[in-house]
Amino acid sequence: MGLNPPILGLFRRLLAERDQSEGADWDATDSELDCAVYHDPDIHRREVDRVFRRMPLCLGRADQLPEPGSMIARDLLGLPLLIVRDRGGEIRVLLNVCRHRGARLLEAQETVCRQSTLSCPYHAWTYELDGALRGIPGAEGFPCLQRAERGLRQLPSAVRHGFIWAVLDPQASAPDVAGFLGDIDRDLASLGLEGHHFFRQRVQRRACNWKLVMDAFQEVYHIRRLHAGSIAGYFPGSRFTAEGEGLHTRILVGRELLAQAQDLPEDQWDVRCHATLTHAIFPNSLIIYHPDFTSHLGLFPTDPGEVLFVHSLFTPHAPRSEKERAHWERSFDLIDGSVFSAEDLRISEQIQSALGAGANQRFALGRFEQNLRRFHEHLAALINRD
Ligand code: FES
Ligand SMILES: [Fe+2]
Repeated sequence: MGLNPPILGLFRRLLAERDQSEGADWDATDSELDCAVYHDPDIHRREVDRVFRRMPLCLGRADQLPEPGSMIARDLLGLPLLIVRDRGGEIRVLLNVCRHRGARLLEAQETVCRQSTLSCPYHAWTYELDGALRGIPGAEGFPCLQRAERGLRQLPSAVRHGFIWAVLDPQASAPDVAGFLGDIDRDLASLGLEGHHFFRQRVQRRACNWKLVMDAFQEVYHIRRLHAGSIAGYFPGSRFTAEGEGLHTRILVGRELLAQAQDLPEDQWDVRCHATLTHAIFPNSLIIYHPDFTSHLGLFPTDPGEVLFVHSLFTPHAPRSEKERAHWERSFDLIDGSVFSAEDLRISEQIQSALGAGANQRFALGRFEQNLRRFHEHLAALINRD
């Protein structure tokens, strides 16, 4: 399939700029960023209330819950969630909180399968997989209780491009994911993500502000130095182009095979082989298109200095042999362990731990870091709104 016009445009620019200096926004000037955004509790509270609780957030891949009864418990943004595939096959995002006296229905944070009903571990109220209240032991003790009003609370959600999206506010209406993504929606369709296969996931709590991680994945200025011992060799010259799409951003980084694309017709340009495409989906998702698999990163702050980092790897199809499975296992270990965890997250934690040292009141952002400037401007505009 040919590339979507906006990605094609980005590719043309990348090739045109290949022989010039690294892909910077030469019309921009350098700027500064107030370090308070990484530790101020009031800013954090407003980010949660005005951004994370209002926008559709990508919670992961739908086929992580492969069959009716598959479910996963996850605490995100202070909300205990239960993501379930119900008997009819529909994905539901429920609050993992019993409607009797508030116990958690499921504690496991890994995917489990319950074919029948959910039973509360405290007094054994039971619920259908769609959240409806089914059974109350000693029901005669609740003569006035309206069962229909005591189902598990549900959050508005949708599945699009194989991803689960939800708004973490039970009062909100169903998310318009296509409208929210704008032209990025067409990018995702053209990349055929819907049919991909969930392969593996790792969830880590890391001691840094969520935006330090978003920053690290929205600039390539650091690749040559921070990733010198791992992936820098794949990205000679750290050449890139980027483009804002509403609140979101596309970033295209040239790989070592970029020069070959110059001699190929445009319909053979490949955003996984000649370059690496990243979609930064506001506020907290990143989709990275590696040569033969794809990463989704979801960043969920727990407080100003801590983030839940959820990395899901998905592949174009289920492994067809043990060799293929072993290859993707090794790929995950390399990219998740040796690159993201040991390099990007480690440096983000170091930065966080030194914020109080007084060295910087403001960080410097250069022409290579304009995606960060735009990201922080969008965020500031949203959280400072009355
Ligand atoms: S809290 Fe769940 S049954 Fe009582
Ligand atoms: Fe990095």
